Amino acid sequence: MSGVNDIRSTFLDYFRKNGHEVVASSPLVPRNDPTLMFTNAGMVQFKNVFTGLETRPYVRATTAQKSVRAGGKHNDLDNVGYTARHLTFFEMLGNFSFGDYFKEQAIELAWNLITKDFGLPKDKLLVTVYHTDDEAADYWKKIAGFSDDRIIRIPTSDNFWAMGDTGPCGPCSEIFIDRGEHIWGGPPGSAEEDGDRFLEFWNLVFMQFEQTEPGVQVPLPRPSIDTGMGLERMASILQGVESVFETDLFRHLIDATASALGKGPAADNVASYRVIADHLRSSCFLIADGVLPSNEGRGYVLRRIMRRAMRHAQLLGAGDPLMHKLVPALLSEMGSAYPELVRGEALISETLKLEETRFRKTLARGLGLLEDATQTLGKGDRLDGETAFKLYDTYGFPLDLTQDALRQRGISVDLDAFNVAMEKQKAEARANWGGSGEAATERVWFSVRDRVGATEFLGYETESAEGVVTALVKNGTEAADASEGESVAVVVNQTPFYGESGGQVGDTGTIAGEGFSIDVTDTQKKGEGVFVHLGRVASGSVKVGAAVEMKVDRARRMKIRSNHSATHLLHEALREVLGTHVAQKGSLVAPERLRFDFSHQKPISAEEMEKIEAYANEIVLQNAPVTTRLMAVDDAIAEGAMALFGEKYGDEVRVVRMGTSLHGDKAGKPYSVELCGGTHVGATGDIGLVRVVAESAVASGVRRLEALTGEAARLHLDEQDRRLKAAAAALKVAPADVVSRLEAVLDERKKLERELADARRKLALGGGSASAGADEGESVAGVGFLGRVVSGVSPKDLKPLADEGKKSLGSGVVVFVGTAEDGKASVVVGVTDDLTDRFSAVDLVRAASAAIGGQGGGGRPDMAQAGGPDGARAGEAIDAVKAVLAA
Ligand code: ALA
Repeated sequence: MSGVNDIRSTFLDYFRKNGHEVVASSPLVPRNDPTLMFTNAGMVQFKNVFTGLETRPYVRATTAQKSVRAGGKHNDLDNVGYTARHLTFFEMLGNFSFGDYFKEQAIELAWNLITKDFGLPKDKLLVTVYHTDDEAADYWKKIAGFSDDRIIRIPTSDNFWAMGDTGPCGPCSEIFIDRGEHIWGGPPGSAEEDGDRFLEFWNLVFMQFEQTEPGVQVPLPRPSIDTGMGLERMASILQGVESVFETDLFRHLIDATASALGKGPAADNVASYRVIADHLRSSCFLIADGVLPSNEGRGYVLRRIMRRAMRHAQLLGAGDPLMHKLVPALLSEMGSAYPELVRGEALISETLKLEETRFRKTLARGLGLLEDATQTLGKGDRLDGETAFKLYDTYGFPLDLTQDALRQRGISVDLDAFNVAMEKQKAEARANWGGSGEAATERVWFSVRDRVGATEFLGYETESAEGVVTALVKNGTEAADASEGESVAVVVNQTPFYGESGGQVGDTGTIAGEGFSIDVTDTQKKGEGVFVHLGRVASGSVKVGAAVEMKVDRARRMKIRSNHSATHLLHEALREVLGTHVAQKGSLVAPERLRFDFSHQKPISAEEMEKIEAYANEIVLQNAPVTTRLMAVDDAIAEGAMALFGEKYGDEVRVVRMGTSLHGDKAGKPYSVELCGGTHVGATGDIGLVRVVAESAVASGVRRLEALTGEAARLHLDEQDRRLKAAAAALKVAPADVVSRLEAVLDERKKLERELADARRKLALGGGSASAGADEGESVAGVGFLGRVVSGVSPKDLKPLADEGKKSLGSGVVVFVGTAEDGKASVVVGVTDDLTDRFSAVDLVRAASAAIGGQGGGGRPDMAQAGGPDGARAGEAIDAVKAVLAA
């Protein structure tokens, strides 16, 4: 029963049987708490349930919660490896009552579990209570039968538990076990309490208050219970070992390290094995929950943890990166309880390997520098701040790594001087940043960045989160507050809102807090890493320092994700169909549609387009998971990831992959692999459908595709379908016959047009109603003459008429004046060859043209054409020609 996995399930089963809902661990990055760096206790996910803000369908719960205590209020990093019980990552087993049972039953439940199910010896147990909490002391007497000396009253904050500077809190009672005289240490409250003899393994918190701001406590609506048992500590007790590192789980991790290194721990280096085992767990769990090493915020704490482990690996003589080799061992220990580790395995291993590879490049040189700088120092001395800063700045040694390296020699670091050196560097960076023109208006963001740091982006993992407003900017200058109706730019310490970049538009949504709400209409990234939420205060007024709840417009973001992933699929499909000369020239990923510009010389044929769409949709149908990994840029590009030329990438980039190629040389290989910081669908099937709706040229050699996905693509097809049905109805055929029917109709129309033209010609030549003022066979001054005004004959058909007219006259002059609906007229004059030496058609047409208000005309002596605005005087044009002939 005493394996770590068994203890976890015994605990959860026990509380389940006692009416508790078994709730899954929440992620290590708290979604609902901006004040916390990492989830550090089981109650974090229930914070709002305790305060009454949120209700759940149960009033009792139990969890095994992943917790990290590093880099925040509860920070155990420095102790890890050097005590028997401290860990940066641990599992907290807890039971919770939300206004249901309180002190008495909490104590009773705990007592029965540890003495009956876990079988701990009663005489070795003792407890602490908050010094004023007589009630708890009385229950311990009654339930456990403890005498006063086994109930230790503690007057300090050790027995008043608070999650952070704000949040639910209350007096607590901790349960200890005496592990025997052979271990150094004294009972809680004694001078030797820091020793390992008396081990605290369970903390029962009687949640009674909410700390709204430091020092201010208000009673909770209903007194509640929050408890936390360290799983690893309980395992060490039940397995009869002195330290958590000797429990089954840690033994296996340490064995894996030993086999990777080819040597096991000895007295002088066991701390390094322990540090590695602990830090392996915290690193892997943090990466699995979306944290990646960086130089800011959570990412920096992760980097510190990783690098600390990596230095210890080097101390143990590791010849090459070690940490990633230990991942399989961790997975076999914890993968079934925490499947996110299995899902994230590739990302975890790659991230560890990349970090260790890079860090090893400077580690040895940094340690050499440290060695030189401390040669003359001894116990109690301090390393100068400049060297510590140089190690930090040039060699990537987080400060605590330097401290850790000097710890065994009893040397500390001059922290003040370190901070001075850090400040000096920041000031120089500021001074070097000139700024002019447009950049000058952006200056405000650099000063915000300097003061509050880069914003932590949570949006890969979540679409809502809490935060604290760190800056407000109105009209380009910082402000302390903004009220209803005002346009404002809001900066928050962390955000799920995506800031416009890489073609993907910024997120919209709401930011709300007590008494105010802001509509966010756009999010931009400014001043290197500051996410700026642009919007308008919809109600109330917001102040810097306000706690806020941030909600991205989810429906919109889903469409954006889908369009972004589809852009990657189309990019690859274009390369597959048109060739690898296709390179991205620009893109727009908006909720409504996507646009993709790329290099290609000629229009895409219908056949090519069909293929492009088909290939992209094949990957959609694979419903393949979209995976993201963090890699060094060079490695990513060497592996074939598509990068944008001329784009500035950081040292490390996100590489997004989706699908498996089905065609050509790439068959079986990953389909689309791109460097991309955007947000994507979970699996390609989420895209639903990719539909290209337009293809055009934007510049020489650059073409543009516009496409729709998901619901928009479906609606577009619907619309097309409606049009087809309307066409079918108009043609009175089934939709399937529309094309053949239309072809038939068009043929028919051509035929009719031909017939109509013939009929008109005949009519024009044959006289009748269209003629005006002239008869066939007329002769003017001895010259054969034919003159007609015709309507409905196009100017281009006048010449053939004139030709025919000349033929029928044999010898003579013909004049055709065509009138159009707009009132204009055109005129053609033909002269038979035998008469061209007497009359020129060009001269005659000029006379005709003058009569209808035209500007002359042109042609040859036997045929000339002209036009004029005044169709009503068509008859006079004919007379004008006659007059010339008669003259
Ligand atoms: N929240 C309490 C703790 O972390 C149980 O100790």
